[in-house]
Amino acid sequence: MLDLDFVRAQFPALETDWTLFDNAGGSVPLGRVCDLVQDYMRTCMVQLGASYGLSEEASRRVAAGNRAAEELFGSGEGDVVVGGSSSALARIAAAALRPLWSDGDEVVVTDLDHEANIGAWRELAETGLVVREWRCDPETFQLRTEDLAPLLNERTRLVAFSHCSNLVGEIQDVQAISNMAHDAGALVYVDGVAYAPHRRVDVDELGADLYVASLYKVYGPHLAALHVGKELLAMAKSQNHFFIGNDEGPYKLQPGNVNHELTASLPGIVDYFEELDRHHGGRGTIDGAFDRITAHESEIAAPLLAYLDEHPRARLLGRPVVDELRAPTVSFVPLGQRASEVPPKMDAQKVAVRWGHFYAHRFCSRFGLHENDGVVRASMVHYNSPEEVDRLIQAFDAVL
Ligand SMILES: Cc1ncc(COP(=O)(O)O)c(C=O)c1O
Repeated sequence: MLDLDFVRAQFPALETDWTLFDNAGGSVPLGRVCDLVQDYMRTCMVQLGASYGLSEEASRRVAAGNRAAEELFGSGEGDVVVGGSSSALARIAAAALRPLWSDGDEVVVTDLDHEANIGAWRELAETGLVVREWRCDPETFQLRTEDLAPLLNERTRLVAFSHCSNLVGEIQDVQAISNMAHDAGALVYVDGVAYAPHRRVDVDELGADLYVASLYKVYGPHLAALHVGKELLAMAKSQNHFFIGNDEGPYKLQPGNVNHELTASLPGIVDYFEELDRHHGGRGTIDGAFDRITAHESEIAAPLLAYLDEHPRARLLGRPVVDELRAPTVSFVPLGQRASEVPPKMDAQKVAVRWGHFYAHRFCSRFGLHENDGVVRASMVHYNSPEEVDRLIQAFDAVL
């Protein structure tokens, strides 16, 4: 059992009378992350890389932030590019990889993902690449490997897909998809944004060549991080100034550099996961923390999923249980009213959920969801409590 008093005490923003179920949009930050940002700005916010002592201290703290981002992915040193957002990093990656490919080469995108991992690749069609669409199963919303197989051929260079859907919470088998893509000679670009807040990411085990996550959804600041394996990073074309060469590691994919004060706060996320595990009797590992987080989330999501699955005026999207194939990101179509009508009615009860297409725009087009203003999404993370889920269900009861 997760000690929720301990967990919630780590997040100052939870001291509010709002019950927050908009966490897939962004989690609230850890108190220790806020402290590290403030401390950096108050004590050593000078330019990096100079010889004077204060600059050395600033450089040390930013380097520790980069190292923390690597630890969150299980990546090696120098394998992670920190950037402003996952959307921006996908575009930087697309521009950096395009010169490695020839006109007529192919990329595969899905119709399920957040647009961040579709548009950046689709637009390469304007430069002579062929784009193929991998459509999700219309019943389960899974990306089936049987449907990927006919899209792969000797010209496929990249398969872009999400580890977890930010709308239906469906988790994909990254390992199986990566193996298939690699057998065809293609790379995989995995959007882990909706997965990373809930489960441990280990890029080596997953076989992901590129893996991105948004740190503001993993209890940190408004930043994102992209794992790129060393060999691939060495080949990718620099997106930085001409004198910052191809051998300059992550920096070559960080034009304008990173936000120093936010990067310096990233060790706070790793510290928290380690302390969470230790607090519950573990050895103080990120893996241990996520085992506990996953178990708690499965437990708290169960009543909501059961409630919506049986509700006569709601159509739940995706699986009705949280298991290895589902995260606790829960969307449904209200029947008899528009999605946009539901959340505002819940505001009075101070229960925060939201409606819309959540940038899974193509998915909503395919399944005719825009006509109803999209879906209502209630997304939870491990700091949500069973009592909060009860409050959420009561609030839905009053408005559905
Ligand atoms: C699955 C998924 N991918 C990508 C993004 C975009 O992330 P960012 O805001 O860091 O660009 C989001 C944001 O909600 C998302 O949910």
